[in-house]
Amino acid sequence: MKWFKIYFAFPSVICLLLIACTSTKKVVQQSEVPLDKLVDNAIRKSLICLAKSVEEVKDTALYPTYGTKTLQWQLKSSDDWTSGFYPGCFWLAYELSKKQQFRQWAIDWTKGIERQKYNTKTHDLGFRFGCSFGNGLRLLPNDTATSHYKDILLTAANTMDKRFSPAIGSYTSDWDFKPLPNSVPVVIDIMMNLELLLWTSQHIGDTARYNRCLCHIATSYRDLVRADASSFHIARYDKITGKLLNQGQLQGDVDSSTWSRGHSWMVYGLVVAYRFTKDTQYLDKAMAVADYFFKHLPKDRIANWDFQSTLDYRDATASAVVCSALLEMQGYLKDPLKQRYYLSKAERILESLCKPPYFSEGKGTNCLLLHCTQYYHRTPNTDVPCSFGDYYFMESLLRYKYIQLKSK
Ligand code: GLY
Repeated sequence: MKWFKIYFAFPSVICLLLIACTSTKKVVQQSEVPLDKLVDNAIRKSLICLAKSVEEVKDTALYPTYGTKTLQWQLKSSDDWTSGFYPGCFWLAYELSKKQQFRQWAIDWTKGIERQKYNTKTHDLGFRFGCSFGNGLRLLPNDTATSHYKDILLTAANTMDKRFSPAIGSYTSDWDFKPLPNSVPVVIDIMMNLELLLWTSQHIGDTARYNRCLCHIATSYRDLVRADASSFHIARYDKITGKLLNQGQLQGDVDSSTWSRGHSWMVYGLVVAYRFTKDTQYLDKAMAVADYFFKHLPKDRIANWDFQSTLDYRDATASAVVCSALLEMQGYLKDPLKQRYYLSKAERILESLCKPPYFSEGKGTNCLLLHCTQYYHRTPNTDVPCSFGDYYFMESLLRYKYIQLKSK
């Protein structure tokens, strides 16, 4: 009798559970806000935060770098590699809103970057000048307020171009805290600085510089991307012969692991390489490294700071950079299946970025993206906002809006 009851009761319990699960699922789906609404909300609130941040930053010679644990911006001069992102956010805000106030703030904070144009000590002039002067010129090509921007960009690119080493076949880095005797470092981040060089080389018709950029990409892909499409942060070369000495991590966990933001710089840099060259090998490479990125994302699609580390520190900046890169890349893909695949990957990442706990909504801060890792080793700075996270998040919002407009 007992067994009889269980025999008949068991399927009924399963049925009830199934009905319960299905209806829960429905409730979740019904309560889900569509991505276009999430994006509109994120844009509206980001513009408010950005406008309020002016009160916090005040001085046009200072730039937000990383946030504190209490979500306030730490400020540095334009000497810091991150300085271009704040004026960059204003330019994107102007593009999104067409509000003159954002245009003016963009111009005001862009100005202070100019003093870096002869700085030969950094490989990051592309970040500083592309986001600030580059966006300004793109948005206001014929405006008296930006008429000097082109010359400034050309000067900065000439300075950056001096870092090319013919022996290595690559632009070289400015830092390494584990150097070998007579070694020269090249970090994956330089991929992001090629946009400035490629733009100016096309602009002034400098084929030699254009070829130096292509050479850098080939060297970096060969020496920084492993056969399984994971990546090293750094490669070290002999100063005289240019011979590869070793590969490993600076900001990542261990030499055999993959630092997620470094990886995101490679994805983005390859998409930019395609934009300038229209050579499909860069799209194939970008898809390969992007696929590795997706495969190692947690469920909420926000990357851990290092894909192999057991330390649970997210880096929302890495996901924002890849999201923006994919939103550009999907527009270049001729195969509709691939185009839809990468667009939907980007959309799913954007969905996570637009919602708490990653979007700062309701936190009373002027920073936009939370849970980023600036740095883990030496001076840990984890679980903080970062100005570059905000920049690539805003660029993703903007790119998503353009895709929506085009599809209407
Ligand atoms: N380019 C330095 C960083 O990504 O932290």
